[in-house]
Amino acid sequence: MIGKQEVRQKLMANTNAAILGTGRAYPEGILTNADLERMVETSDEWITSRTGIKQRHKASEGEYTSQFAVAAARQAIERARIDPGEVGLIICATVTPDQILPSTGCLIQAELGANRAAAFDIAAACSGFLYGLTLANQLIRSGQTRYALVIGAEILSRYVDYTDRSTCVIFGDGAGAALLGPAEDGRGILATRIYSDGRYAEQLFSPGGGTRIPPTAETLAGGLHYFKMRGNELFKVAVRSMADVSREVLDEAGYQADDVKLFIPHQANQRITDAVAQKLKVDESIVYSNIAMHGNTSSASIPIALDECLEMGKVGEGDLVLLASFGGGVTWGAVLLKW
Ligand code: COA
Repeated sequence: MIGKQEVRQKLMANTNAAILGTGRAYPEGILTNADLERMVETSDEWITSRTGIKQRHKASEGEYTSQFAVAAARQAIERARIDPGEVGLIICATVTPDQILPSTGCLIQAELGANRAAAFDIAAACSGFLYGLTLANQLIRSGQTRYALVIGAEILSRYVDYTDRSTCVIFGDGAGAALLGPAEDGRGILATRIYSDGRYAEQLFSPGGGTRIPPTAETLAGGLHYFKMRGNELFKVAVRSMADVSREVLDEAGYQADDVKLFIPHQANQRITDAVAQKLKVDESIVYSNIAMHGNTSSASIPIALDECLEMGKVGEGDLVLLASFGGGVTWGAVLLKW
């Protein structure tokens, strides 16, 4: 016999998902450019002009990824006005999980008391949140899930080498979350596209600490667990792929870049954001940037930015919102929503 809940879910099938609530959280600790000037040979002028970053949040000893993920998720659930027990899916996008096993998603689930959800992690670096939105949208459309929580959460500072000036100025810590449910009146997620190309794996990677180079005293001393980055090469691929995939979702939904009211690109670098906006020919007034305050928080960057935009009243009902990302893997993607 089919239960009431199943009947309702079947009726909802083929309905796109909408974001019903968002949240964000980050460590209190802040690392400014002035702090970095004392740690490596760099300057506020260099960091600001090359990246746009002024400060980034940095976790203290004892703080861990799921703490911030749970805080962000609680806000998203509360704002969506649902009960944690109604959440059917928890996707945590992270490359800095609490531990290898179990998934950070399961640890978050336990803290939230969302005991009927399926929970897992996605490792798609800075594109993880958009990968999560894409999967959650499909599971909601299929009727399998009614409410889904998608979280991007990172404590990148654990994998940053604070003697390497080419990476340590860029990354920050934080978490952002979105609670999705069935959309009404043709609103919600209109189009999604996600891609990856593993041939560029070594443009941004952490060579040691896994099964290929297991962690030993030597690998730790050699810093093999730290992020290594070919910034220059990444820059070009990032601009091209974010612009291309943004055009794809706009085409699919039958819109032009001109129609977009808010564009939130992954906050990697102000120069990347400016170059993508220029390629897409969108006015800078609709492009959101918080890179100065947060640095690059990988999978957390888009949900943190979205939560800030909602708080500032930058999104109105019916507005077209474009999200685009790029990250290690390499991975990239875009999601177009009607608010
Ligand atoms: N302070 C001062 N000098 C620095 C520096 C720092 N923090 N980091 C690098 N430099 C130096 C380099 O050593 C190099 O010196 P050299 O010419 O004497 O060799 C010089 O600056 C130029 O380095 P380069 O790497 O060519 O600079 P860039 O203009 O490409 O800027 C990045 C570097 C990392 C800011 C830029 O490449 C970038 O943003 N790339 C994308 C990174 C990114 O977004 N990654 C995440 C993807 S999700």
